[in-house]
Amino acid sequence: MMSANKPVSEYAMSHIQALQAYTPGFQPKDPDWIKLNTNENPYSPSPKVEAALKEAIGPSLRLYPDPASQALREAVARLNGLDASRAFIGNGSDDVLNLLTRAFSNSNQRAGYTFPSYSLYPVLCGIQDSDIVEISFDRSMRLPLEKLLDCNARILFFTSPNAPTGVAFPNSDLRQLIAGFEGLVVIDEAYADFALETAADLLSDFDNLVITRSFSKSYSLAGMRIGYALAHPDVIEVLDKMRDSYNVSRLAQAAGLAAVDDQAYMKATVGKINHTRDCYLQEFRDRGWFVYDSQANLLFVEPKDSSGNSSAKVACSLFEFLKSRKILVRYFGGHALTDTFLRISVGTDDQMLALSESIELWLRNE
Ligand SMILES: Cc1ncc(COP(=O)(O)O)c(C=O)c1O
Repeated sequence: MMSANKPVSEYAMSHIQALQAYTPGFQPKDPDWIKLNTNENPYSPSPKVEAALKEAIGPSLRLYPDPASQALREAVARLNGLDASRAFIGNGSDDVLNLLTRAFSNSNQRAGYTFPSYSLYPVLCGIQDSDIVEISFDRSMRLPLEKLLDCNARILFFTSPNAPTGVAFPNSDLRQLIAGFEGLVVIDEAYADFALETAADLLSDFDNLVITRSFSKSYSLAGMRIGYALAHPDVIEVLDKMRDSYNVSRLAQAAGLAAVDDQAYMKATVGKINHTRDCYLQEFRDRGWFVYDSQANLLFVEPKDSSGNSSAKVACSLFEFLKSRKILVRYFGGHALTDTFLRISVGTDDQMLALSESIELWLRNE
């Protein structure tokens, strides 16, 4: 039945009505596209994952999964030298970030994050109607330590290596942040396997530190939706109270276990990606383009046109040109720290060569 007086969407909470939804990168159906827009891994998951999935598909799918994903908890805890009481498994790390936002912030309890960073945080905080504080980097992208320490948030989301820049923050810097912060510090380490250091090494020193990780990048399992948190057992208990009873499917748990079990495969693909990343970072710099040092599977690149100028118009022109050649990268307009840049996920060598050839063509044509 239709409501007589108003559209049914107006029954939603007013802050939800006002919410700007998250915009995921375009996922074309046609496999011809070169997808360098969502920081997926260009290589297949470990063959052990396929074998484990084949085994898991069968009569047992009629049964609910293990609600706690206990075997996978133990596996990720072991991987990080921790007790399983310090690990929590989510339906992607987005699920973990969502639960953390809901548990530790509301309209009276502030949640903080930096700009630029992962653009899901504002959406999660918006859903929770959190009191939000956004702390801006400057172009150097160095840690804005004083501003972060003064932000008065109960929970702070901090991404390292950061997206979309790829810039990683050394533990010596993070230690100062976590030690001085009166609240929970969530270090989002979705890209940690591509980096030189992990803040998980600081967990034994700080009860207010939460690490989140993803299986979507280094383990090539974006389609499976697996992520995890490492934290003090009290934080894990909070998350366990709140999660969906069966938040990780049987198939995801089986795939996750097989992926963790094949560290050699993960490290080999990460090694290939890092090698490709460093070659193309140098290639962009040889062109005279500005690129941030990256410890993730992405490059944040400021293109220059054939006259040597960079601007939002130049970045958009290259974005559109690449799209016309079925190469997808990501553009973040509307802010001076990002709008002259393109974020390019690191693909295979062949994909990156195609990108490079298209850039040459653009430079000749524009
Ligand atoms: C910084 C950051 N955190 C978390 C995620 C989401 O990871 P997941 O696929 O595990 O939900 C992403 C995905 O791009 C990301 O860039």
